[in-house]
Amino acid sequence: MGTGARILQRLFDRNGLPRREDSRRNELARVHISNHRRSLVRGPRMSAHASRHISVLGREAVDYLAPRAGGIYVDATFGAGGYSRAILDVADARVIGIDRDRTAILGGFDLVDRSGGRLTLVEDRFSHLAEVCAAQGLDAVDGVVMDVGVSSMQLDQAERGFSFRGSGPLDMRMGHSGPTAADVVAKASERELADIIYIFGEERHSRGVARAIVAARKEAPIVTTEALAAIVARVVRAKPNEIHPATRTFQALRIFVNEELDELHQALAAAERVLKPGGRLVVVSFHSLEDRIVKNFLADRGKVSAGSRHMPEVAQSSPSFKILTKRPVGPDDAEVAANPRARSAKLRAAERTAEPAHRADDLPSWPRLADVMRGG
Ligand SMILES: C[S@@+](CC[C@H](N)C(=O)[O-])C[C@H]1O[C@@H](n2cnc3c(N)ncnc32)[C@H](O)[C@@H]1O
Repeated sequence: MGTGARILQRLFDRNGLPRREDSRRNELARVHISNHRRSLVRGPRMSAHASRHISVLGREAVDYLAPRAGGIYVDATFGAGGYSRAILDVADARVIGIDRDRTAILGGFDLVDRSGGRLTLVEDRFSHLAEVCAAQGLDAVDGVVMDVGVSSMQLDQAERGFSFRGSGPLDMRMGHSGPTAADVVAKASERELADIIYIFGEERHSRGVARAIVAARKEAPIVTTEALAAIVARVVRAKPNEIHPATRTFQALRIFVNEELDELHQALAAAERVLKPGGRLVVVSFHSLEDRIVKNFLADRGKVSAGSRHMPEVAQSSPSFKILTKRPVGPDDAEVAANPRARSAKLRAAERTAEPAHRADDLPSWPRLADVMRGG
């Protein structure tokens, strides 16, 4: 067996999924692929996953990013590589693709191969995008694009536990380390569960769902998507033509387990620090919680901030971004017809000015994974 096959066997099980023992030591097993490393790691191609994924607002995202020859762009949510591929196609540019999901990174092998050294893939969280760039010897880039949230491939793989439609382990981690949704459901107090489901799922029946979860887990651990969906469905009644009753609870747990909103806050601030003057930031989001964060960030960075009355030492700052989308851009009818999941996507874009980055905002005080797992 060659070196590449051995590496792949270590990273993946027979179904091409990351091995659990690797998940627990993710820091050591983190994957970083550039063209020369690619030649080491040969084996099963992941394009079967990629082919099932359709990029959302891909044309619009790349139009706003406006890649140019010689430019360096960060695709902070590589996924199936749709945005990276489009950037590499339209300009003789370099792309750093980041994804916390090792399956996505390994699925990008072919594209790395075909890119002629212009694509580097890094398995990491996008909140670390400045550090990822620094590790590539880059202190500034010409564009950052993010297509946040879960991918179709992740949703469609029942064994990842994101969806109440298939039967799978209650996992929901985009990366392969840290607590699972089952761990959170087992550990969080009733109050914490209610807060998580209310804040991140905007579920009106959050208290009832939390009560039902706590009652059910006294009988037996809740470890499958099916079991959780059934518990929620007993409390939240579905009306005809409405979304599945478990939709909001699943969304809440997924956002919480992956710390998605904190990640987005931190990634926006990191993009502000690494973008060159004239560099573009393009963000596609899928629900109102994410879009609100992007909208507020850009509104704040797009105006003169008056400094702080409470912290007089914080000076007034000039706009660090010029907003390019007064209103969010959505998919057209043809895109929604071809891909109904694109329905709620919103794109916002802005151009970095030459002004210094603003002071990073404090993170909102919502429940945090580490606190819940520590026991309050
Ligand atoms: C909607 S998909 C992106 C699809 C991509 N634009 C394409 O065209 O194929 C979102 C991807 O972002 C990744 N992701 C989500 N949050 C992340 C984070 N905090 N850090 C790194 N990757 C993240 C997910 O693992 C997923 O693969």
